[in-house]
Amino acid sequence: MKKNIVLIGFMGTGKSEVGYLLAKKLNMSFVDTDKLIEEREKDRIIRIFQVKGEDYFRNVEENIIEEVSKYENYVISTGGGAIIREKNFVNLKKNGILICLTATPEEIYKRTIPKKDRPLLMKSKNVIQTIKEMLEVRKPYYQKADYTIDTTKKNIEEIVDEIIKIIKKENGKN
Ligand code: S3P
Repeated sequence: MKKNIVLIGFMGTGKSEVGYLLAKKLNMSFVDTDKLIEEREKDRIIRIFQVKGEDYFRNVEENIIEEVSKYENYVISTGGGAIIREKNFVNLKKNGILICLTATPEEIYKRTIPKKDRPLLMKSKNVIQTIKEMLEVRKPYYQKADYTIDTTKKNIEEIVDEIIKIIKKENGKN
C-alpha cells in the first residue's frame, strides 16, 4: 500500500498550494479536504460556518477525512483545525506520513487576512492575538506530526523540495 502524504498545520501555512505542487512533482494524486467539503456541500466554507455553524462543518470534515484516509498514493491537504479531533488524527495516520507546515503569527496574518475567507479569524478585533492564542491551543496537536517545516521565509517551491527530500529518506527506510 503506497502511503499518503498528509499536510497539516495552521491557516496560511501553504498547505493547499504546497500540496498541489508536491503531488504534481511526485506524480501523485491530490485532494484538498476543504475543497472537497465545499464541493459536497455545494457551498463556501465561510457560508457553511455562518449558516450551519462550526460543529456542522467539523462533522462534515470528519466524514471527508475518514473517506480520504482510505486513499493510496495521495497528497492530502487538510484544513487547519482538522487534526484537533483525535479520530481525524488516527484516520490520517493509518496510511499517511504527517507533515506539519508552520509560520510565525505575523506571517500567517499577512497571508490570510487579505483573502477574507477564514471564518475563525474574520470576526476578531485583534487578529494577531487570536492567531497567537489559537496556535498555543493547537500546538500539542500539530506537534504530533512526523515532520515539521517552518515556511515563514520559504516559497512554495522550496517547501515542496524540502518535503521531497523527507519522502525520499522515508522511502529509503523501507
Ligand atoms: C480552519 C481552517 C480552514 C478551514 C476552516 C477552519 C481552522 O482551512 O478548514 O476555515 O479551524 O483552522 P485552512 O487551514 O486551509 O485555512
